[in-house]
Order: sequence, then C-alpha cells, then structure tokens
Amino acid sequence: MGGMAVAFIILAAGKGTRMQSDLPKVLHKVAGAPLLIHAMKSGAALEPDKTVIVAGHGGDAVEAVARDWSDDVDVVMQTEQLGTGHAVLQARDALDGFDGDAIVLYGDTPFIQPETLDAMLAARADHDVVVLGFEAADAGRYGRLVMTGNSLERIVEFKDASPAERDITLCNSGVICASSDLLFDLLADVTDDNAGGEFYLTDIIGIARHRGLFATVVNCDEAETMGINSRAELADAEAAFQTRARRAAMDNGVTLQAPDTVYFSHDTYIGADTIVEPNVVFAPCVTVENAAHIRAFSHLEGCHVSRDSVVGPYARLRPGAELAEGVKIGNFVEIKNAVLDAGAKVNHLSYIGDAHVGARSNIGAGTITCNYDGVFKHRTTIGEDVFVGSNTMLVAPVMLGDESMTATGTIVTRDVPDGDMAVGRARQENKTGFARRMFQKLKSKKTNAAKGA
Ligand code: UD1
Ligand code: CA
Repeated sequence: MGGMAVAFIILAAGKGTRMQSDLPKVLHKVAGAPLLIHAMKSGAALEPDKTVIVAGHGGDAVEAVARDWSDDVDVVMQTEQLGTGHAVLQARDALDGFDGDAIVLYGDTPFIQPETLDAMLAARADHDVVVLGFEAADAGRYGRLVMTGNSLERIVEFKDASPAERDITLCNSGVICASSDLLFDLLADVTDDNAGGEFYLTDIIGIARHRGLFATVVNCDEAETMGINSRAELADAEAAFQTRARRAAMDNGVTLQAPDTVYFSHDTYIGADTIVEPNVVFAPCVTVENAAHIRAFSHLEGCHVSRDSVVGPYARLRPGAELAEGVKIGNFVEIKNAVLDAGAKVNHLSYIGDAHVGARSNIGAGTITCNYDGVFKHRTTIGEDVFVGSNTMLVAPVMLGDESMTATGTIVTRDVPDGDMAVGRARQENKTGFARRMFQKLKSKKTNAAKGA
C-alpha cells in the first residue's frame, strides 16, 4: 500500500459476560484458534509495523496467547473498561512516534478479510477517517452510520439514536482507520456524555467533521463483521468458518465426499486431487500434499502427509507425524512424533511414537513402540526394508537395522543388526492330550455338582 506504515490496535479488554465463562472472550476458539488470533492474522496479512493488543479481563492469559503467536506485539492493559474510545487511547504510548495509519480491530470479530483492510487503506487517500460499514439484515443495537452522499457525518450509537436514525440500516462494524496521530488527537476530545456513559470511539467521526476533516465508509459483507458475544454466536461462527473452508478446499481441487462432516482448522492446507472421505477432523497445523487419500473417521493434528499416502479409516496422526510419499497408515493406528519414510506401512492396530521408520518397512499388526518409561521418552529407529512381525513390542531406546526382521510376538529390548531376525518369546510346548483330559474332568465335576443339589 504505497509504503505507508500501518499499525493495528486490537481491542480485547472486554469480559464477554454472555459467554458465561472463566476464559476471556477473545480466547474462545473458532477453527482451533482463539478469536484473538483470527483478528491478529487478518492484520498480519498487511505486514504491519506495529500491532498493539488492548487487554483487560484475563489480561495475562490474553497476553500469553498473543505473544505465543507473535513475538512482535505490544500488549497494553486497560484496567477499567470505560468504552471503545478509552480502550484505543490505551495504545497511545505504544504508538508514540509511529508515523502511519492505525486501524482499530476488535478481538472478538474474527472474519475481517485482509482485502477489506486494503480497501480501507486505499480510501484513506482522500479521506481522513475511514470506517468499515455493512448493510445489516437486522440492525439491532449496532451503531448507525449517518451519511450525506459519500461523506460519513457521524456515528450514532443505538442507545442515543433518534427513531429516524434507528431506521438507518448501514451499520458500524467497529473497524476504523485514520493516521495514528489524528486518531489520538480526535480521541482527546471524546467525552462520556452519552446514554451509555462511555467514551465512544465512534464519536471521533462527528469531531473530525466539526474540524472540517473528511470521513467515509468502506462496505463489506455482514458475514465478515460477525462478532462473538455468546456460545451460540461462537457456534454460528464455527459453522460459518467451516462452510467457507469446505468450499475453499473444493475450489482448490480437493474432493470432499461429505463436506458437512469434515472439519478444518484455521491453518489447514490440503493439496489438489487429495480425497477426503466422510467424518475427518483436521486439528491445527496439518498439511496434506496433492493426491493423498484421507479415509473416513481419521483425526489429524500437527502432521504432514505427502502425496500418494493413504491414512485411515480410523487413523490418528498426532503432532510430529511426518509421512513421506506413498506411506500407508491403516485402521486403529496412532502415530506421534514419528517420521515414516517413503512406502512404509503401518496397517493395523499399532502405536508408533518417537520413532523413525525407514523406507518400505512394514510394521505388523499390533506393534507398539514402548516409548515411555514413566519419566522419559525414548526413540525407536527402524531401518529400511524391515519386516516387523505382528505384536512386536519395541522397548525404546532400540534400533532395528536395515533388512532386519522380528518374529511375531517378540519383545525387542536389544538392537537388531542389519539383516538379522530377532525372536524373543517363550518357546511353545504341546502337552499331548492334556486339553481333552482336562475338559472331561471339569465336565464330570459339573454333572456331579448338579446331582448333589
Ligand atoms: C461497538 C460500536 C458500535 C458498533 C459495534 C459493532 C462503539 C461505541 N460502538 O458497540 O457502533 O456497531 O461495536 O460490533 O464503539 N472493548 C474494550 N474496552 C472497552 C470497551 C470495549 O476492549 O472499554 C472491546 C470489547 O471487548 C469488544 C469491542 O471493544 O471486543 C467492542 O466493544 P462493545 O462494548 O462490544 O461495543 P458495542 O456496544 O458492541
Ligand atoms: Ca459488541
């Protein structure tokens, strides 16, 4: 945007009383990410020079989440919530000396698109203040935008609005843009002399016009400005997100056999020609390359699936699962913090954790990496072209060499050299006629007991 510096001020001090929660409202999640992170991501897409979060209720928790996501944020505290204008003023010191545009976002409004913010910055070329507005299906208690032609004259809060003003359907989203200096200058004139007894950010428009400055509105879809105030609205936001994510995946060439049953996270990436069967959950941090196949009832989180791999049905990929090309993970298999090289197979009923499985190795049914001794986690390293027999217990730390093998039911406690076979199980003995004799004895005991009764 013409090199003009941009800062974001994200308001996140409110309690969110209607959430009925101990958690600050902006930390409730949609698509696996706190609402605040959605707002931060919208801003981050414009590569801002500064991002200031105004926290209050649960401020420490809000700060921790914000810093966890970005080490380039300022967090300021608004100890008393005296209104949106007062909230923005708390960012003044953090933006001292900043020369550029400031955009105010709300931490509870997750779906503002970067393109919309770009449009607001563009509109700043010939207006001092730009407000993001929308035509509301039900204007309810939103602030109303009072226009004269293309000029925004003032914003009137519902509580303070006349009946005629309440008839206006063009509403204030809350997103506002002005040069940082002007924003704080205008805010200095805002008072709490209104029906709410609050310092309204929205009053800066009337003040700007009074000074002969110019304000206008950029419009967006109502869906984009959706704010979350209750659990029901949180669920609505989740549903809206999922609808869009499913549509976007299909537009990008992903087959969803039953789109309504597939759940995406805010950061899910799936390549073209991948097929996703019904009832699959993509928790955060999942990337799937092209032409993979994710079968029904699988749960994936923090993992990477390469092309031509097949996952599921009923598979669980946990954080750190790295599947190279053409890997097969079958039913009731759990993979955690493990790299599987090309063509490796774990087809049935296994747990592979803290491990490396070499190319083309086959892990038999029921195999488990015993990675945890109750205190420490240990690694299992399996070479290339290894055949691990069914029900092998790999007691880590342990290593299976290339082209080695384990016999079914083996408990592997020592490394197996390349090309060797490990057998570690009790030797079988057959006791001649024992079973038949024992059953006869037991049956006659039962008959005698019945007679006696
Ligand atoms: C605000 C706008 C209204 C707009 C609506 C859109 C004002 C005066 N009104 O009303 O025109 O239509 O949003 O949703 O700006 N917050 C703080 N500190 C405070 C007060 C609020 O951080 O002291 C935060 C809240 O946590 C919330 C956001 O600012 O995320 C908006 O505050 P809220 O009280 O919900 O404003 P509304 O009354 O909805
Ligand atoms: Ca609100």
